Amino acid sequence: MAKDSVEPINSALLADALAGLAQPQKQLSPKWFYDTRGSELFEEITQLDEYYPTRTEAAILVAHADQLARLVPPGGVLVELGSGASVKTRTLLDAGGHFGAYVPIDIAEEFLMHTAQDLRRRYPDLNVAPVMADFTSAITLPSTFDGVPKTAFFPGSTIGNLAPQAAIDLLSRMHDLDGVDTFVLGVDLVKDREELIRAYDDRAGVTAAFNLNILERLNREAGADFGLEGFAHEARWIEDRIEMHLVSRRAQSVALGGTVIHFQAGESIHTESCRKYTQDSLRALADAAGWVVDDMFADSDWRFMVAVLKRKPD
Ligand code: AVJ
Repeated sequence: MAKDSVEPINSALLADALAGLAQPQKQLSPKWFYDTRGSELFEEITQLDEYYPTRTEAAILVAHADQLARLVPPGGVLVELGSGASVKTRTLLDAGGHFGAYVPIDIAEEFLMHTAQDLRRRYPDLNVAPVMADFTSAITLPSTFDGVPKTAFFPGSTIGNLAPQAAIDLLSRMHDLDGVDTFVLGVDLVKDREELIRAYDDRAGVTAAFNLNILERLNREAGADFGLEGFAHEARWIEDRIEMHLVSRRAQSVALGGTVIHFQAGESIHTESCRKYTQDSLRALADAAGWVVDDMFADSDWRFMVAVLKRKPD
């Protein structure tokens, strides 16, 4: 659809936004960041000097590529949650000539299909089987892979978006999924507060644009009339997480699907939490969902960690 044409209302987005903006602390789910523009902006974030997670994790994957690829048995399936552009995954695919298939799962359909096509060109012998799904709810894999051993891959610290119970639920659901015996999980680690804030409030303003894009999406897909200049991007460190907010610069009212939403000056919409883990908090998370941490790979500064989880023996 052309960018300037009127899009049909995205009823799931509208319903979710109406519910979230009716809360005392107004909120929107970070999953709505990832329309095509948002996915592009996120890729831009990953290139920023201040945003260390992507390049740190990528270096960890390169350093341990063979060992990680061997976690997938010959003919086994690599299942990736929130695959985005699957850039980091290529490190594993390069070392994974023995993989039976690669199943990238993402919510941004257009982006996902694009990525799948690109991967098929790069890896002509690999079965690339994309699944358009929201990993925060139940995931169904193509039944052709029933009984085939699977290794789940959830890099990028995306699990950090989930509240503690939601993270446990996700790991439990993967535990229950057919054939998944190993879970490779990338988590960002607790570190200096200033370094964390900088990573989520970069000087070039890319993260601000990414955050504000969710309002543009509401305007386009949910018939809202947010003025983007009326909101400021803010990153806050709270306890064990970065929280991203959009702070109303003044008292204002915004229309959303026939409802009027009021903002006081300084009132915010909480758009994302990015939880940071420690070795201990990660072990506790795994344990609560039936997994045990089998291996931990980190950079020399312990900025980021790729953990290998195995099913707890029953
Ligand atoms: C995609 C959730 C891992 O939490 O660092 C980056 C998203 N938000 N900058 C993160 C994000 C702002 C990112 N994750």
